[in-house]
Amino acid sequence: MSASPTKLETLALHGGTPVRETLLPYGRQKLDEADILAVVEVLRSDWLTTGPKVGEFEERLAAKVGAKHAVSFSSGTAALHAAAFAAGLGPGDEAITTPLTFCATANCVLYQGAAPVFADVCADTLNLDPEQVSGKISSRTRALIAVDYAGHPAELEKLRALAAERGLVLIEDACHALGAEYRGKRVGGLADLTVFSFHPVKHLTTGEGGMVTTSDAKMAETLRRFRNHGISSEARQRQESGQWFYEMVLLGFNYRLTDFACALGISQLARLDANLLRRREIAARYARAFREVPAVMAPVVRNGVNPAWHLYPIRLQLESLTAGRGEIFRALRAEKLGVNVHYIPVHKHPYYRDRFGYKGGEYPVAEDAYERLISLPMFHGMTDRDVEDVIRAVSKVCEAYEK
Ligand SMILES: Cc1ncc(COP(=O)(O)O)c(C=O)c1O
Repeated sequence: MSASPTKLETLALHGGTPVRETLLPYGRQKLDEADILAVVEVLRSDWLTTGPKVGEFEERLAAKVGAKHAVSFSSGTAALHAAAFAAGLGPGDEAITTPLTFCATANCVLYQGAAPVFADVCADTLNLDPEQVSGKISSRTRALIAVDYAGHPAELEKLRALAAERGLVLIEDACHALGAEYRGKRVGGLADLTVFSFHPVKHLTTGEGGMVTTSDAKMAETLRRFRNHGISSEARQRQESGQWFYEMVLLGFNYRLTDFACALGISQLARLDANLLRRREIAARYARAFREVPAVMAPVVRNGVNPAWHLYPIRLQLESLTAGRGEIFRALRAEKLGVNVHYIPVHKHPYYRDRFGYKGGEYPVAEDAYERLISLPMFHGMTDRDVEDVIRAVSKVCEAYEK
């Protein structure tokens, strides 16, 4: 039986009028005419795949995040796979990562024949807890993979110190965190390898796409080869220098990003700062409003950090509500908020349970958070009206289910 609302407005879930008429998604791209023209220009040119726009996008992105090198990929997942390869992960190795992430973060370790080992998260940020990581390091550990959950940078200083002390490679999955700042520096130049995604819900989009940044020239070369079948030169270089000869020097893949996708990336990158500003404004407005809603725990921001706000995951204070997350979620959906949940902890997926024997209860902080999490709409194209609708719907639903 679902609990009935006790007060005020009737919830849309129970036949009342929804806060909005149309569904507001949790994330959405924003393209303008300049983006479209940039793509069309490349469609009319000689190079649809690796052409001049690829290098230009990589250089601009590297400069933006303060890294020496950037290598583009066909998705964030492909970029993670390449990072796992460049980190030297192979059979018999382990990489320690967070369970509270998209499965691709851990899958990239499996792609390399290595084993992901999970460590629990910090209760405030829901980012990988360095104390927990420390307890999981073994002679097989080769890499740490931190995720900047929701766009809040991970505990990079402690993780870097651990990696340096134990001779490990630090990979930062910054798929949520393009433009986030940690102690005054943008993420992208702070780990050995940093991975970004350009999926449409991200801060800038190329449709599908990803990037790895690094300040290590040798790793950058490995990444370039890995995305191009392990071949040591590119077709365009060969055509321009009139040579046909090439060598395959390692086992790679075709993970190339097209030239028109990179043209879109360059055009979108010009608006990254404005997009971040808008997301930060929305986060500040939400934080102010949810101070008045006792059932909502807003995301925590640590000192010295400026998050990029890819997501806005609230946690429900279930102890003060008469319904669980499932019903609150359905009630918000009925009010026409396209809420979502990030994430089902990776070890709870059937594939991981079956393969590694997880029973649940191994990572209590991540598992408790999962029961409470709801991601509210957060994207730079939201209007002020959209933001106020979210606040109204969350307040309405939480009040209705208040104990
Ligand atoms: C934390 C994290 N890592 C990796 C990925 C994979 O990125 P992509 O969808 O570009 O393959 C995502 C995608 O949303 C993500 O959220």
